[in-house]
Amino acid sequence: MNDFAHRLCAWQRTHGRHDLPWQHGRDPYRIWLSEIMLQQTRVETVIPYYERFLARFPDVGSLAVAPVEDVMALWSGLGYYARARNLHRAACMIMADHAGQFPHRAATIATLPGVGRSTAAAIAAFAFGERVAILDGNVKRVLCRLFGVDGFPGERAVEERLWALAESLLPERDIGRYIQAQMDLGATVCTRSRPACAHCPFQRDCVAYREDRVATLPAPRPKKAVPRRSARYAVILHENAVLLERRPPAGIWGGLLALPEIPDTTDDISAWAMARFGLERAQPSPLTPFTHAFTHFVLELQPVLIRSATRPPLCADAAALQWLALDAREGAALPAPVRRIVDALSAPGLFTLG
Ligand code: ADE
Repeated sequence: MNDFAHRLCAWQRTHGRHDLPWQHGRDPYRIWLSEIMLQQTRVETVIPYYERFLARFPDVGSLAVAPVEDVMALWSGLGYYARARNLHRAACMIMADHAGQFPHRAATIATLPGVGRSTAAAIAAFAFGERVAILDGNVKRVLCRLFGVDGFPGERAVEERLWALAESLLPERDIGRYIQAQMDLGATVCTRSRPACAHCPFQRDCVAYREDRVATLPAPRPKKAVPRRSARYAVILHENAVLLERRPPAGIWGGLLALPEIPDTTDDISAWAMARFGLERAQPSPLTPFTHAFTHFVLELQPVLIRSATRPPLCADAAALQWLALDAREGAALPAPVRRIVDALSAPGLFTLG
């Protein structure tokens, strides 16, 4: 599409935003402040903070000499407080390293704390008319849809492709309007959910629209593989009672009754069970393993049945242990996978496994 910038700017003239408080004038300090406040924060939220901040700190010099606590106080409620600390540090750097003059070039602006490549480009374009591309979240979304760019935009290769695409689309003139137009299209038409495709000047050109992929572009962040853990649990059964242990308060099943966990380091389960529970003879036999999904990991449970001919008295240091009669299991507060094992103990056929 060779007339993208031209058509986008024409759209901006009639449909874009023109009187946001930072759109009056070209003071780089005011533009910088707005771009930092607008990171992760909506325009309506930013406006009152922006005005209060400028009333107290009208220029870089007043910001640099202020105690950082005063800066934080004016930021309070906007969130992402590293932005405020970086803003103050950057103001000090501008005074110390740039003789109080806001740097003009995007590449130099990008060396200030808290200013990434896209923010630096927006400031340089708005304040000094430098011909540089931006690539914030909104622009990434617009480009992915319009040009059908696959892959997660946070991935390096995809992001590089998007930067190259953004640079190839830059107009020769009127860069400030073009940058604002990109932001406006992303914020008001090509929104993340329920975009207003019917009002989009690029509906006919849009790959995502044509291929009915608006809802699936840009591709979401790939899901991380869920960690897996496996653990062996002792199912100590005497007649129709099973031995349970109250879990420590921290960790999975904190404070609930569960089956005793066999330490990973235990090789001889029989010796471990006899020593730990005072059993006379213990013949372990594995039951069928199964998995249980927690929010952050999947647990593979390997139950090991140990039938005991006797019911050893539980000694004092085993206060966390207790016998549960199988027919009283309904009323016990058991974690779901433990209940599954205890239920299986009552089911016919189990003892053929043992
Ligand atoms: N978000 C980031 N920069 C913006 C700007 N200049 N106008 C509106 N929204 C924005």
